[in-house]
Amino acid sequence: MLLFTLLLSLTIPTTTIAIPQSSSLIASPIPSLTPSLTPSPTCRCHPHLPCWPSPSEWTLLNATLNGKLISTTPLASICHTTPNHPPYNASACQTLRADWPLPKTHYTSPSSPMAPWFNTETCNPFLPPDAPCTLGALPAYVVNATCADDYIQTINFARTHNLRLVIRNTGHDYLGKSTGSGALALWTHHLKDMRVIRNYTSKVDLYTGPAIQFGAGIQVHEALTFAHHASPTPFTLVAGNCQSVGLAGGYTQGGGHGQLASMYGLAADQVLEWEVVTASGTLLTASRTENEDLYWALCGGGGGVFGAVVSMTSKVYPDGGVVTANLTFRADGGVPGEVFWGVVERLVSGFAAVGDVGGAAIWMLQGGEFGVTPVTVPGSWGQWNVTYSYHISPFPTFYSSYTTMNPLSNVTESQIGGRLIPRSTVNSKMRDLMRAFKQIAGYGAAISGVSLNVSRHAIPDNAVNPAWRESAIDIVLGLPYNFTNRALDAANQQLMTDVLLPFLEAITPDSGAYLNEADIHQPDWQGVFYGESYERLLAVKRKWDPEGLFYAKTGVGSEWWEEREGGRLCWVGMVGI
Ligand SMILES: Cc1cc2nc3c(=O)[nH]c(=O)nc-3n(C[C@H](O)[C@H](O)[C@H](O)COP(=O)(O)OP(=O)(O)OC[C@H]3O[C@@H](n4cnc5c(N)ncnc54)[C@H](O)[C@@H]3O)c2cc1C
Ligand SMILES: *[C@@H]1O[C@H](CO)[C@@H](O)[C@H](O)[C@H]1NC(C)=O
Ligand SMILES: *[C@@H]1O[C@H](CO)[C@@H](O)[C@H](O)[C@H]1NC(C)=O
Ligand SMILES: *[C@@H]1O[C@H](CO)[C@@H](O)[C@H](O)[C@H]1NC(C)=O
Ligand SMILES: *[C@@H]1O[C@H](CO)[C@@H](O)[C@H](O)[C@H]1NC(C)=O
Ligand SMILES: *[C@@H]1O[C@H](CO)[C@@H](O)[C@H](O)[C@H]1NC(C)=O
Ligand SMILES: *[C@@H]1O[C@H](CO)[C@@H](O)[C@H](O)[C@H]1NC(C)=O
Ligand SMILES: *[C@@H]1O[C@H](CO)[C@@H](O)[C@H](O)[C@H]1NC(C)=O
Ligand SMILES: *[C@@H]1O[C@H](CO)[C@@H](O)[C@H](O)[C@H]1NC(C)=O
Ligand SMILES: *[C@@H]1O[C@H](CO)[C@@H](O)[C@H](O)[C@H]1NC(C)=O
Repeated sequence: MLLFTLLLSLTIPTTTIAIPQSSSLIASPIPSLTPSLTPSPTCRCHPHLPCWPSPSEWTLLNATLNGKLISTTPLASICHTTPNHPPYNASACQTLRADWPLPKTHYTSPSSPMAPWFNTETCNPFLPPDAPCTLGALPAYVVNATCADDYIQTINFARTHNLRLVIRNTGHDYLGKSTGSGALALWTHHLKDMRVIRNYTSKVDLYTGPAIQFGAGIQVHEALTFAHHASPTPFTLVAGNCQSVGLAGGYTQGGGHGQLASMYGLAADQVLEWEVVTASGTLLTASRTENEDLYWALCGGGGGVFGAVVSMTSKVYPDGGVVTANLTFRADGGVPGEVFWGVVERLVSGFAAVGDVGGAAIWMLQGGEFGVTPVTVPGSWGQWNVTYSYHISPFPTFYSSYTTMNPLSNVTESQIGGRLIPRSTVNSKMRDLMRAFKQIAGYGAAISGVSLNVSRHAIPDNAVNPAWRESAIDIVLGLPYNFTNRALDAANQQLMTDVLLPFLEAITPDSGAYLNEADIHQPDWQGVFYGESYERLLAVKRKWDPEGLFYAKTGVGSEWWEEREGGRLCWVGMVGI
């Protein structure tokens, strides 16, 4: 939900920052399953190696897929003179540079990840034409899937040929989970089917009511629009603030917050069924009554590691009235003083109460400005006795509020890190939290928050990080990305890991972070992103993907692999055995 559009003047401390330590491990092995665990051979195949499939094998795969195989061309190849790519074209490159912040530039591409660290590593539109352009972190081939059979063919081919396999939906992922060097990518963007189920009835009497089945490629704005136009009554659903995030991919599988999450729970809490193709190439359904362990893991345990989701069926709700407000204020002269911080403190503590009644607030503190875009509260105008002077309106439906009050999101051109702030911190350590904010702001970082309460209802048994249930705010910190200075970006990543996040970690030692909005170098990521669910998640991973076909950075089981120089993925064994 970040909207880091301003370029900040950045203060980087000149002291040397320690290299992040490799993460400690929580993994406890399941002895009975270990014999099947060591994949052979030890490394995934990589382009130009003798093990790489021959041109005729690729041609055969393409024929099996009715021509849906795409060989990767980096988006920015038109900005470079390197041979073997579409030729350098100055005017097309100019257009591409201007469109680079737009999510659409990337999600319509088969391979471009949005996170700038990955998408400009080896083919950067902002570098001069003679800078090299190679595939780098991008997959070598992409399958433009449109049905479950395409998934099965792709997964079987990757398994047979020992390829790195990656699932790509929109490419929104901040941690590089939807891209992979030399990989075969399964691109899910064109699975756009949707179907209203007026009266979903689960096999055992768990839920009876409206639901929608969403294809894997459906994006937030498509889902909300479709639900809203369902006849005879409009529906709504828990969906992200960013219009173009994929609904059934990393968003819901990783938890999924949004403006209705206090009202109904996280997106992962809404799922009734997953249709999924497993690592063995089998299409099956996972629900509370079938393949329950896989269902449990897919609801919050993170995208890209347990199986490839074809569709998701989730609860939807009648679209009722909401009150929505936005607000921006600036410190005098852009320099935050006591008054500014006092107002911020009162607003941020007040938003916790908004969560308790089913509302949510999305806010951003950056460069001496505080913006709320927006705060949404369920119910009607009369109920809240509002006399605010900023822009506030009643809306007959959440849909009308979402389309009016929610600014269009661009790609987040920042280095990010995140922390979940427990309610207890907001209740009794607000001074400490404000001190941490001031320290972080002093480094020129933006601080954004989603204030909400995702434990107002009975908490379903799923893999959502338990820290979410104690939380009042999901904080995301951002340092601006510099497209032409990778050394500075690397220094900023270390600043995030070693200096900025520790300000928040120090006052929230028992909390964690939202795995979708977090620091790629987070120490102890297993504990921080998954909490006490991690061991159970590893067991599900071992059962459904014993050879580790599905790999994603910081995903469950990813500590069994390391990415070597040049991007080749190699098995490093199961630590702890
Ligand atoms: C601008 C912006 C705004 C955001 N706003 C919000 C927000 O409001 N709320 C929120 O909760 N999060 C938000 N996020 C974070 C978002 O939830 C994650 O980036 C998420 O990973 C996106 O999922 P995706 O499927 O669209 O992206 P991708 O990058 O394509 O995929 C993400 C992960 O999911 C896996 N995956 C994708 N599809 C499938 C599938 N069909 N089966 C199995 N695995 C799959 C991929 O392998 C990868 O590991 C935002 C991110 C950005 C960049
Ligand atoms: C796959 O086949 C289609 C249609 O024949 C073709 O356009 C495409 O270039 C092929 N892909 C590859 C990687 O050769
Ligand atoms: C360069 O790109 C433009 C579109 O931006 C296109 O109209 C033009 O034909 C291209 N030129 C060449 C030589 O390919
Ligand atoms: C998004 O990026 C585009 C293209 O650079 C720009 O015109 C637009 O103002 C940006 N929108 C926001 C909300 O920052
Ligand atoms: C992917 O497939 C869809 C649907 O068949 C098609 O519309 C789209 O053009 C294809 N994209 C690419 C890049 O081949
Ligand atoms: C939904 O189905 C249940 C049981 O199958 C039934 O009791 C209920 O009346 C149905 N509701 C609607 C709105 O159709
Ligand atoms: C709104 O005001 C009315 C009359 O002043 C009062 O009875 C009611 O409790 C108030 N509602 C809320 C939610 O504060
Ligand atoms: C608040 O929302 C209104 C309606 O969309 C918009 O015109 C206005 O610019 C927004 N103001 C702020 C401060 O975000
Ligand atoms: C959420 O709200 C409920 C009341 O609806 C309250 O009991 C609970 O403590 C709140 N939890 C958090 C984490 O804020
Ligand atoms: C990015 O880094 C380059 C090289 O150090 C510098 O010239 C430029 O001003 C920086 N850009 C921004 C926006 O800070």
